Amino acid sequence: MPEKNIQSIGVEIEHLSKRFGEQVVLDDVSFSVKPGEIFVLMGPSGAGKSVLLRHLVNLEKPDAGRVLIGGKDADDDATHSAIRTALVFQAGALFNSMSVFDNLAFYPREHRLYDKATLRDKVEHVLKILHIEDAARKLPAQLSGGMRKRVAIARSLVMEPQLLLYDEPTSELDPITAANISEIIGTLKEEFAVTSIIVSHDRDLALGIADRVGLLMAGKLLTVATPDELRASTEPAITEFMRPKIDVHNPRFRRLA
Ligand SMILES: Nc1ncnc2c1ncn2[C@@H]1O[C@H](COP(=O)(O)OP(=O)(O)OP(=O)(O)O)[C@@H](O)[C@H]1O
Ligand SMILES: [Mg+2]
Repeated sequence: MPEKNIQSIGVEIEHLSKRFGEQVVLDDVSFSVKPGEIFVLMGPSGAGKSVLLRHLVNLEKPDAGRVLIGGKDADDDATHSAIRTALVFQAGALFNSMSVFDNLAFYPREHRLYDKATLRDKVEHVLKILHIEDAARKLPAQLSGGMRKRVAIARSLVMEPQLLLYDEPTSELDPITAANISEIIGTLKEEFAVTSIIVSHDRDLALGIADRVGLLMAGKLLTVATPDELRASTEPAITEFMRPKIDVHNPRFRRLA
């Protein structure tokens, strides 16, 4: 059985700036995520959300400022050897020729993390938490989009990460499946005491499960607030942002919202 991580870790983004050529994508962004917190980063398409997330897994390097994970620089491979960080990619990136069980077992086997019986217990436990135990012997192509997302999350959880990052975990899902996934993300906090940072356009997800929400607009952090503070806000930029202009429940339009 996966044990709770005894030590949750926090994240500090300090004066982070990033440009690609002439384009300033992140402009002096600072915020912190507390150990064990669920932090949702929202903002319009092109705001720089995915670029910010990529800094946390050392896929981008800051032009200025720094990113600390558990007090250590994310810009250093040693940090990632010491702290287990997992990024759930939007498309899931599953191995199509492997069963769901083997997809989940792949990285622990590669890294020889557990003996065979322990690995089986851990995989089965995670599949059960995500309600996909019946899919263990299936191939990804035999699953629905919502199930594939759950498999992608499950695969990260088997590694028992201390920091779990998600890029758009509910995009392209129907509203009920999206609500399901966000509920699951919420319960993982209790089960694994993991720190979660979620990039999402999904207001229901943000207001439903976030401890705090950051709003990123054109590379600048507009605010960091709790869901209650956002709902109560009379700040025009925030109320404008919180009010959907189109039907955000329609997955076709969600990325434009
Ligand atoms: N590797 C790159 N090279 C050049 N420009 C990039 C690169 N990665 C991102 N950008 C640009 O940075 C900006 C922010 O991109 P990013 O992917 O972070 O947006 P986002 O907020 O995640 O948007 P979405 O909600 O649509 O996913 C975009 O204008 C994008 O074109
Ligand atoms: Mg993105």
